[in-house]
Amino acid sequence: MERLQKILAQAGVASRRKCEELIQSGAVTVNGEKVTTLGVKADPAVDAIAVNGKTIRGEKKLYLMLNKSKGVITSANDPQGRKVVTDFLPGIKERVYPVGRLDYDTEGLLILTNDGEFANLLTHPKHHVPKTYHATVKGVPHGTALEQLQKGVKLEDGMTSPAEVEYHDVDTDKNEATIAITIYEGRNRQVRRMFEAVGHKVIRLKRIKFGELGLQQLGRGKFRHLTPQEVEELKAAAFKTHKVHKK
Ligand code: URA
Repeated sequence: MERLQKILAQAGVASRRKCEELIQSGAVTVNGEKVTTLGVKADPAVDAIAVNGKTIRGEKKLYLMLNKSKGVITSANDPQGRKVVTDFLPGIKERVYPVGRLDYDTEGLLILTNDGEFANLLTHPKHHVPKTYHATVKGVPHGTALEQLQKGVKLEDGMTSPAEVEYHDVDTDKNEATIAITIYEGRNRQVRRMFEAVGHKVIRLKRIKFGELGLQQLGRGKFRHLTPQEVEELKAAAFKTHKVHKK
């Protein structure tokens, strides 16, 4: 027997917190009876559990890595009909959703899953999973700018936590530089805003690592399944406490 919200989250309905809200809103039934209080337990192998009248099944858990191209929305669908990340998963029938977001114009490593608990674990602000980007910026930031990024810069939603920053490539002819930056938070457009705060506009942004997981040879617009070991390593990264990065 498991708590209902846990069963729903594991079945990929939504995060555990969202599932609690669904239960409280009266959307969930167990063997035809509406359950609106939290703490009720059920056995998914025996009980018929439904959300808005649709029976959930113990779906196979999927963990995917996509090398997202720019010009693609990190969403399962877009009312305006633009390309979405799930358009790039041929053969995947299960309903998977992205773990966190990449901007429309950001490329690179995006994890998708139907395991709500896993998604929640990796995106929860208290877990500080590192994410590494290659940010190509206008101009060549010098020591003080990089130091500021390392220590934390003031954004309109508060100071950023310490980051790791190093030069990846400098093109003096084009007056551009590519900086590898690792952040431990996941605020909206954070990397772009951090560079803007130190006077450098980001002209290209690519996520190259999530935790210790790297894109490696995965081609642009291509996806692959994560190995069970990679999934375990990501979970371990989320559980590790990065005290230094705590607010
Ligand atoms: N930071 C950004 O500015 N954009 C992203 O897509 C991810 C991190």
